[in-house]
Parts: sequence; C-alpha cells; structure tokens
Amino acid sequence: MFDPEFWFPTSVNALAQGTDDLFIFILWVTVISLVVVLGAMVWFAFRYRAGHAIEADTPPPTHHLGLEVAWTLIPTAILGVIFVWGTRDYTTMSVPAQDAMEIRVTGQKWFWTFDYPEYGVRIKATPENTKQNRIDGEPVGLVVPVNRPIKLVGSSVDVIHSIFIPAFRVKKDVLPQRYTVTTFESTEEGEYDLFCAEYCGTMHSGMITKVSVVSAESFAAIMAAEQVKSTGPADGSVVFNGSGCAGCHAVTPEGTGIGPSLHGVFGRSRTFADGSTGLADENYLRESIMRPMAKLVEGYGPMMPSYAGQLTEDELNALVLYVRELGKDDGDAL
Ligand code: CUA
Repeated sequence: MFDPEFWFPTSVNALAQGTDDLFIFILWVTVISLVVVLGAMVWFAFRYRAGHAIEADTPPPTHHLGLEVAWTLIPTAILGVIFVWGTRDYTTMSVPAQDAMEIRVTGQKWFWTFDYPEYGVRIKATPENTKQNRIDGEPVGLVVPVNRPIKLVGSSVDVIHSIFIPAFRVKKDVLPQRYTVTTFESTEEGEYDLFCAEYCGTMHSGMITKVSVVSAESFAAIMAAEQVKSTGPADGSVVFNGSGCAGCHAVTPEGTGIGPSLHGVFGRSRTFADGSTGLADENYLRESIMRPMAKLVEGYGPMMPSYAGQLTEDELNALVLYVRELGKDDGDAL
C-alpha cells in the first residue's frame, strides 16, 4: 500500500518524479493522524467511561498552553511542507522547457484531436480509430518521441474535458475559451492509456485512447507518413487573410491600419485603454479574437467585431499560432 505502484502504473514521466513521493508522504501523514486521533478517542472513551472511578480531587484544567501550541504548529508545519513540495512539483509539470515540442490537443464530445504544428500533422483519436488502436500499423492516439520534453496545449470545442495519462501522472482540464498547458517527458517507449477524466456527457467513458511513446526515428517516420495522408490543422495565414483580419491589422513592423499592428505583439506587455497592462500570451490573443472589447489596446477605438461563432476551434487555434509567430524571428521580440 505504501508503494506507488499499488495505486498507479509505473511512472514513466521524468518531470513527475516528485509526485509519487509526495503522494506517499501524504498517505503516511494521513495514516499516522488517523491512528493518533482514533487511538486517543478509544483511550479516552475507555479511561473516562461511566462507572470507572478516577481521582477527582484536583479541579479539571482549563487549558494547556504546550498542547495547544503543539497541535497548532505541527499541522501547520506539515501543511507548509506539503504546500512547498506540491507547488514545486506542480510548477515542474506546468512550465514547459524552452525546447519542448509543442502538441495542441483539442477535446470534443467525444474524442481527442492532436495537432503537431511543427509538422503540419493532425491525428484524430475518434472512437472508431481507438477501437482498432492502430490503422495500417500506425498509432492513432497521441504519439510522442521518447526522452523529449513535450508541451501540451489544450482547449475544448464544447464542454470541459480533462486529459488524464496515469502513467505520466498527468491530469489537466481542457476548457472552452481558454488554453491550458501541461508538460511531460516520457522515459520509456510503450503504449499508455489516455482517459477523459471530467464527465462530459453520454460517451464520456468512451473518450479514451492511447499514448504511444516511440523512438525518435519512429516518430520522424510516423510524422512523415502522416504529412502525406492527414489533412493537418488549418493554415493560420489562410484564415488570417480569408477572415478579414488583414483588412485592419498589419503584420509587418512598418504596417499601419485601423487596428494595432500584430507584428512582434506576442510575448510583449500591452497597455489597454483603461490604463491597465497585460502580457500578450496565447490566452490574450484568443480572447482578443473572440471578445475584442474585453481588452482594448490604448489608442484604438472599439471597432473590431467579435469572431465568436464564426471561427472553428481549428481556425481559431491556427490564427493564434500565426499571430504568435509574427515578428518572432526579428530578434527583438520577447
Ligand atoms: Cu470528455 Cu469526459
């Protein structure tokens, strides 16, 4: 019971080394607390039971300073340890390395879509695909190379889903209207289960697939094969020019327009009409497309129409990625 593998499959995530230790630590704290509290209860019930004579010639004490300090400080210290430990490990699993490979995961009733922007590849884990698990010998779920940090950016088309990979100790909600990020680095080739861990309707329990961890060579081969046959995610520049964005927003350093230039915006601090500031991250870009009035850039009027309901999740994602890359290679961004 005090072995993590009693509860979970063997951990194969290099970034989740602390998770199991913390889990076992909390388990021990819980068991010891249970024994101490229940033990005291039983002892008191026995010692002071009705009909048992005890010496009552000294008046009962009103309080005991030492005891009160002890039962306040000890639990506080234990919670402090759990907090620091948990925060450290949570951060490790939430902040991807700079060189992490990016994979975009989209949750949808009731399947997962995995996009590989670097490769222009899309892998769908529809229920039919998942049943076979492999099509023409190729994996149909999340495919990742071994020993490589992966940045998983998730969003949802409809309701809240949660991506849960027990062998990686990874569980991250994917939400509508917002991106969430998690990271992992698998240490062993193999196939691992991936579940949806947030009840999302009738087929929630069927929203499962596999994670295939393969060698770097196999990964390259699978990506090459998928590039040929998969349609891939939407092209951001096509969406940008086809949805009227280009009519108001310049994409070059010199360009001007009704709206702010988008060149080199990503990763910068923005000042808004109400004087507040904020970082232009992916969630900001996404919000600015869906709800342009939420954070109006200083010096610009409330001109932009909302694109809510006009772009698919795929197109929205592509737009965000496209704007993110604008001016990125000029050296002065970030
Ligand atoms: Cu998706 Cu449960």
